[in-house]
Amino acid sequence: MKMVYAIIRPEKLDMVKKALEEKGYVAMSILEITGRGEQKGILLEYRGENVEVDTLPKIMIMMVVDSYDVNKIISIIREVGRTGRIGDGKIFVLPVEKMARVRTDETWG
Ligand SMILES: Nc1ncnc2c1ncn2[C@@H]1O[C@H](COP(=O)(O)OP(=O)(O)OP(=O)(O)O)[C@@H](O)[C@H]1O
Ligand SMILES: [Mg+2]
Repeated sequence: MKMVYAIIRPEKLDMVKKALEEKGYVAMSILEITGRGEQKGILLEYRGENVEVDTLPKIMIMMVVDSYDVNKIISIIREVGRTGRIGDGKIFVLPVEKMARVRTDETWG
């Protein structure tokens, strides 16, 4: 099992969620985060003033999935989440030791 942390643009959440669901990847946690990538400090113009923004709002999707499915999930997220501009997001994949359902005694891993 793997934990996929996918950081995406907030406006892409609905489309990414729908595309994943269509392929059978339904269970996920969604977090509102702020962050920054390689381009530090973005200059925005707000009411005629230049404002430097240190971090930007993003969405983080957390999913525990079969190791098999990771590359498929990455390509779905890329297909839907990509604009081609900086800040489209990043995906991190970590090993998962165990998953346990609370309602039953099922455990995985
Ligand atoms: N190395 C990292 N470690 C942890 N979080 C990261 C890392 N890189 C990016 N992030 C997270 O992903 C979000 C989006 O990053 P972003 O898409 O700007 O990455 P990037 O590497 O700068 O790519 P790009 O050049 O396309 O902008 C950041 O706001 C931050 O939350
Ligand atoms: Mg960036």
